[in-house]
Amino acid sequence: MNLEELTRLYDITGHTIVVTGGTGILGGEIACALVGCGANVAILDRNTDPAAGLMARMGPAADRAIVIATDVLDPASLQHAADQILEKFGRIDALVNGAGGNHPKSTTGPKASFFDLPPDALRWVFDLNILGTILPCQVFGRVMARQQSGTVLNISSMNAFRPLTRVPAYSAAKAGVSNFTQWLAVHLAQEYSPRIRVNAIAPGFFLTQQNRFLLTDEKTGDLTPRGQSIISHTPMSRFGQPEDLVGAVLWLLSPASAFVTGIVVPVDGGFSAFSGV
Ligand SMILES: NC(=O)c1ccc[n+]([C@@H]2O[C@H](COP(=O)([O-])OP(=O)(O)OC[C@H]3O[C@@H](n4cnc5c(N)ncnc54)[C@H](OP(=O)(O)O)[C@@H]3O)[C@@H](O)[C@H]2O)c1
Repeated sequence: MNLEELTRLYDITGHTIVVTGGTGILGGEIACALVGCGANVAILDRNTDPAAGLMARMGPAADRAIVIATDVLDPASLQHAADQILEKFGRIDALVNGAGGNHPKSTTGPKASFFDLPPDALRWVFDLNILGTILPCQVFGRVMARQQSGTVLNISSMNAFRPLTRVPAYSAAKAGVSNFTQWLAVHLAQEYSPRIRVNAIAPGFFLTQQNRFLLTDEKTGDLTPRGQSIISHTPMSRFGQPEDLVGAVLWLLSPASAFVTGIVVPVDGGFSAFSGV
């Protein structure tokens, strides 16, 4: 191995990569990094307004990005996106399933007991995280099956290893995402091509719109008791920054991980390794 070979291992120049939830905090960071490393990127999100900021951040490389308003829960919308991407770039090398999240109404608290969580809010969380991962895998996975190659990267969570308090549907849904990652890895390798790989990352705690006011006080910005508890259970003593994900994402999308499929990689500052004692 020399530096030239090492660089080739991580080279994604010219790969076409789809990022759902691509205008979100983590998806947006991943999309910008992939374009910066030479990939063509399709940014899919139901709300495309924040894409202008991402395109500005990419500079001239934004020529290699397209933004498509897409609902990951609607197969027709996903197929329309796939058709547009194939028309522009000719193939689809990878899919990052970045759309996901929790719903405030599916979170227990002083005013919301588990027994009263509304079915609609619970269903919303399962739909977004589970179906919102499976349906894009059906549409873009079919293209990969035709090509006999491709890479899927799902986004799981610490909740998948051991559930966190207060978010029952989100925890169960992310456990489902990890389980589905293993299932699809086996299925696509055995039934279609061993050159189609499926993995996931499990981010630790990143401050984003969805969790900001669970973890920090809206008025003072101080850590809430839950935020404090997370930091004290994170050996690296900090929240993640979106760019902390990029190294693991590049590894799992590039030839560097050619013999890796069906795994869930924690990117968590040590949270999942720490017993708390
Ligand atoms: N932040 C963390 O600490 C953390 C930790 C572990 C795992 N994760 C996971 O990482 C992923 C990204 O999270 P994030 O923190 O970056 O959240 P985010 O900023 O809310 O990004 C999620 C994106 O998905 C979009 N989306 C929601 N429903 C959609 C649909 N039906 N079709 C298409 N797009 C849809 C959202 O649009 P709207 O803004 O319109 O809702 C948003 O742009 C999620 O799967 C999340 O569960 C996050």
